Amino acid sequence: MEENNNVNVMPRIGEKAPEFVAETTQGQINFPKDYKGSWAILFSHPADFTPVCTSEFMTFANMEDKFAEANCKLVGLSVDGLTSHIAWLRTIQEKIEFNGMKNIEVKFPLIEDISMDVSSKYGMIMPGESNTKAVRAVFFVDPKGIIRAIIYYPLSLGRNFDELYRALIAMQTADEFGVATPADWNPGDDVIISPAGTCGAAKERMEDKDIDCKDWFFCTKKMPKDKVLKAVLKK
Ligand code: BEZ
Repeated sequence: MEENNNVNVMPRIGEKAPEFVAETTQGQINFPKDYKGSWAILFSHPADFTPVCTSEFMTFANMEDKFAEANCKLVGLSVDGLTSHIAWLRTIQEKIEFNGMKNIEVKFPLIEDISMDVSSKYGMIMPGESNTKAVRAVFFVDPKGIIRAIIYYPLSLGRNFDELYRALIAMQTADEFGVATPADWNPGDDVIISPAGTCGAAKERMEDKDIDCKDWFFCTKKMPKDKVLKAVLKK
């Protein structure tokens, strides 16, 4: 097969999300313009009518309201056409039961990308894995249209959607409170405060009773769960 050099493009964290207009199962979208003011998760899957993808779509669709409460919209993509997408989503709703879920309606847009225009722009085609299918890529795009996190999984590995939600809330918490979040952080856990920039600040911090320093460069503070949720979830 002829080499497709377009697939070598890789968007990066901190850059503006590449723009595109695409047809989807919910009509035409203009990305990221239509999503200004909201977070968006743009994710790809390898193919319609495949088992791992079906389990993923049911799980994500089942969590759509939870993401919406955190001001985040979902957008799917695969290198399939609209007819296939529509038939697959109808089959999911009418026939498939998985993990206690059934009658799941996928209401978020699913992009048709037969031309591979969008998947190539977003580095979703990894020829070592497949020349014709997108890998399982996830792009978190913030309300200003900036890419904030990227996750890639291979074809065989279904994603953990609780982790996608945790990552979204952690990034929103970092933005809201100017903090960072440690390994395995969840709302209610202590957060990390930015490293001291001077010797004086380092000394002060070590003496502050509201701050817990393991050492001068690694200091945490309490961040109650209700404070986090109040800040990041829509009322
Ligand atoms: C799946 O979704 O089951 C799948 C898709 C492409 C390759 C392997 C598995």
